This record gives sequence, C-alpha cells and structure tokens, in this order.
Amino acid sequence: MKRPFLFAVLGAILSLSLGLALDEQEFTTKMKAIGDHMGGLKKALAAKDMAAVSMHAKGVTDNLKGTGKFWKDKGADDGVKFTKDASKASKDLAKAADDSNADEVKASMSAMGAACKGCHEAHRTKGPDGKYGFK
Ligand code: HEC
Repeated sequence: MKRPFLFAVLGAILSLSLGLALDEQEFTTKMKAIGDHMGGLKKALAAKDMAAVSMHAKGVTDNLKGTGKFWKDKGADDGVKFTKDASKASKDLAKAADDSNADEVKASMSAMGAACKGCHEAHRTKGPDGKYGFK
C-alpha cells in the first residue's frame, strides 16, 4: 500500500511548487496573452472604443499579476520595477478609459509601452529562429 501515499506526496510537492514559482513557460503564456491584449488595445484606440480599451488594459493588469515574483526569484530588481511600472500604467489606463479621459489614456498608454520596452531591452532575447528567450 505504498503507492497511493507516494502519489499523494508527489501531488503535494507538485501543487506546492506550482503555487510558489512561476516557471518560464508560464511566464511566456502570460506574455503572449499580454501581447494579444496589446493588439486589442491598438485596435480599440484606433476605433476610440473606450470600453474595449478598459477591458484590454485590465487584461494586461491581470496577466502581469504574479510575474513580479518571477524576477524577484531571479534577483533581477529592474525586472521587478518594470513589472510594477507596467502594472501601474495598465491600471491608470483602465481608469482613464473608464473616465473617457483621452489625455490620460494617451499618457498611460505611453508609460505602459515604455515599461514593456524597457524590460524587453533588458531581459528579452530573440534567437535566429525568431523565438524569444530570457536573459
Ligand atoms: C519585467 C519584464 C517584462 C515586462 C514588464 C514585459 N515583458 Fe514582455 N517579455 C519579457 C521577456 C523576458 C520576454 C521573452 C520571453 C518570453 O517570451 O516569455 C517577453 C516576451 C513578450 C512577448 C512575446 C511572447 C512570445 O514568446 O511569443 C510579447 C508579445 C510581450 N512580451 C509583450 C509585452 C507587453 C505588451 C508588455 C507591456 C504591457 C510586456 N511584454 C511587458 C519581459 C517583460
């Protein structure tokens, strides 16, 4: 009767490690989702559809959740800061869109873009196969 016990232990270890750490694959899944929301944001802005801007900005915020820890675990303080900046800007963006404040929408959109770009320049690599990686 050792097996069920073993599975229980393995299951506990697995759920523990999933709860504690965000691995690179999970991070990439979130980045892809953020990229989709960014595409949605550009369309929504062009169409001046503030409800859609707000929805996609919230999608960015949601997907950034937990990713600061990924950088903290790596000891990359700049990554933690870029995550905070991007998260703050995406929240500001949703609020500005909810308020239909075009100037604030523009300002928070560029603050958000700067945080994405800053982190990509510092921590993103692009291989010859066009795939992104970490540095
Ligand atoms: C704190 C760092 C950091 C921030 C902030 C950040 N990114 Fe990234 N992003 C990365 C890294 C590292 C990669 C490369 C590894 C990967 O693909 O997951 C990446 C990859 C991506 C990819 C490619 C995913 C793939 O592999 O196909 C997209 C799209 C993307 N980011 C969009 C964004 C957008 C949009 C923002 C801002 C709203 C943003 N990122 C903010 C670090 C960051």
